[in-house]
Amino acid sequence: MDSNTHFKVALIGTGTIGLSFAAFHLSHLSPASHLTIYDTRPDIEQYINATLPKFYGEHLSLSPSRIHIAKTLQEAVTDAHIIQESGPENLTVKRALWAEVERHAPKNALLWSSTSGIPASQQAQDMQDKTRLLVVHPYNPPHIMPLLELVPSPATHQDVVKRTQEFWHQRGRVPILIQKEITGFVANRLAFALLRESIHLVHSGVVSVSDLDKIVESSMGPRWAVAGPFKSYHAGGGPGGLEGFFTNIGQTVQGCWDDAGHVNVGEGWEEKVFKDAREVYGMVDTAERDRITRRLLDVLEEERGKKEVGLGTQHTLEPTPGT
Ligand SMILES: NC(=O)c1ccc[n+]([C@@H]2O[C@H](COP(=O)([O-])OP(=O)(O)OC[C@H]3O[C@@H](n4cnc5c(N)ncnc54)[C@H](O)[C@@H]3O)[C@@H](O)[C@H]2O)c1
Repeated sequence: MDSNTHFKVALIGTGTIGLSFAAFHLSHLSPASHLTIYDTRPDIEQYINATLPKFYGEHLSLSPSRIHIAKTLQEAVTDAHIIQESGPENLTVKRALWAEVERHAPKNALLWSSTSGIPASQQAQDMQDKTRLLVVHPYNPPHIMPLLELVPSPATHQDVVKRTQEFWHQRGRVPILIQKEITGFVANRLAFALLRESIHLVHSGVVSVSDLDKIVESSMGPRWAVAGPFKSYHAGGGPGGLEGFFTNIGQTVQGCWDDAGHVNVGEGWEEKVFKDAREVYGMVDTAERDRITRRLLDVLEEERGKKEVGLGTQHTLEPTPGT
């Protein structure tokens, strides 16, 4: 896809995720592009006017006045190049929606679902042509977070994946192709593994909710924004790399894995952990979270740009032994 192309993007369902995508498109599509929204809530226009401005604090290439609110799904998709669905996380709704979209959308339109967990193969069950649908899973909030997990079904056509990758690459995002459909995809599986151990540690009295968060925010949080777990521990192993790391402290790693917390939803930890989180945080200021995250990402982008221009190598993390 040419980054200068004038796109017609149709967003279906504009709650938390859809509206954040609207903010992204407003700031990244070319001025002559079009953004159409279809959402079943009766007060959609007032809701968008009141809520959308809170999402963008940046230069907009497309004026918010260029948003068209469609009255029907058919009207929204009929001449769209990209149809991005962020409706409820409900298989029945998504199956019916794609079957109807397919009836009215142009044959070469890209069809993307934001789902956190319903595979494209299930959503496409009532479609005539199952090769068209692709999961494009964002990390909340998508107008700030660079990651998009692209999760094709076994039937999704290669060309759909390729055109989708190009679209996001050209807008400075990080689209990662996930090779197999799997519950929760990758980012959430990693996050939920940490959440499970966090709950276990709080529930068994090792640490409080607020101290656990401070530990993450003061250690692996910043580190992992710079280098993921493999690169970090490869550096941590000194000259021996990841293998050296396991030679040095593999036994401790195994000890932690043996002792990992096996909490499950509904097993009695909820009352205390939820109460503690409410007491410590009340309502989290997401605007502040987003502002600081954006600043952090700006620094990372600036540093990566410098590295590409200056050093011409991706692997500049010096090995510093340790965890
Ligand atoms: N919230 C997150 O953190 C997050 C992160 C990544 C992906 N997702 C996925 O994004 C999707 C949307 O999640 P959300 O949190 O924004 O939900 P949400 O409830 O905030 O928004 C859903 C919107 O869809 C509208 N809607 C309901 N039925 C509809 C229909 N038939 N046609 C059109 N619009 C309809 C609702 O009015 C609402 O505005 C889900 O599939 C979810 O799994 C959510």
